[in-house]
Amino acid sequence: MKKFTSITDVNDLKSLLSIAQELKSNPFKNKLLGENKTLGLLFFNPSLRTRLSTQKAAMNLGMNVIVMNLNNDGWAIEFGDGTVMNQGTQEHIKEAAGVVSQYCDIIGIRTFASLTNKADDYQDSVLTNFIKHSTVPVISLESATLHPLQSLADLITIAEHKIIDKPKVVLTWAPHPRALPQSVSNSFIEWVKQTDVDLTITHPEGYELNEEFTQGVEISYDQEKAFENADFIYAKNWSCYRDYGKTLNNLDHWVVSEEKMKLTNNAKFMHCLPIRRNVVATDQVLDAPSSLVLEQANNRTFAAQAVLLKMLRDED
Ligand code: CP
Repeated sequence: MKKFTSITDVNDLKSLLSIAQELKSNPFKNKLLGENKTLGLLFFNPSLRTRLSTQKAAMNLGMNVIVMNLNNDGWAIEFGDGTVMNQGTQEHIKEAAGVVSQYCDIIGIRTFASLTNKADDYQDSVLTNFIKHSTVPVISLESATLHPLQSLADLITIAEHKIIDKPKVVLTWAPHPRALPQSVSNSFIEWVKQTDVDLTITHPEGYELNEEFTQGVEISYDQEKAFENADFIYAKNWSCYRDYGKTLNNLDHWVVSEEKMKLTNNAKFMHCLPIRRNVVATDQVLDAPSSLVLEQANNRTFAAQAVLLKMLRDED
């Protein structure tokens, strides 16, 4: 595996899920595989789970890890080809990616959507440029439009907790005080569509996601109706895709509450975290035994470890 940026980079999803589950049972089985290999983690925005779980995954495989917050600690990177760099940017991606490739055997990179330039965000130009100019495998730690390690962890979590073969999974939009990217939701949809689940998306009018992801999926503007008979409720906020990056007002009633969870088939509650309590979901929902949010975060380690293992073994 030379890059891990979306479901399209995965040859055999069942096998990847099974590797992750095996690693969860025996995290140190491949402790020598990563000996004398270095993972470099580059962050353009804050992180708790991605940063720590990916480091832990690498350490479980015996790798060394170096981490850098590029926004705060690095030179401002230029991505444009042929730019006369006499303004704010100080280092070109060609040199930056080339240099990091000499120090690291695998690079992980987290970027973030601008939410102002849809074309640029949906080309994932920061990640794509890093891949283009790196000479070692690259893992997306979340891009402007996708969050594949989160989605892999989410599929592990659903597989562990489903009690029927084809569960009803509902992705629900939920309120948030800031405009957020569509990456977790896009990614969740594209990964879940590859598994045997009955997927419904529910959101207020105006929050339609990119049809490239939602094509073929049932979409409802009625959150309570969508919750009926659900086995899993996955809550996530995202900003508008059509009116790119914008948010709409007066939608606080879309919070996931205990009352709404009662409409489901004793559904498990999921969220990628971090979550704003009593905005996205209530304390009662998050503190209930049916909440899987910590388990999702735990599975981030084994999702990352499975991907690193494939890259270290140079397997597809
Ligand atoms: N879910 C997730 O990616 O969390 P962090 O932003 O803390 O890494």
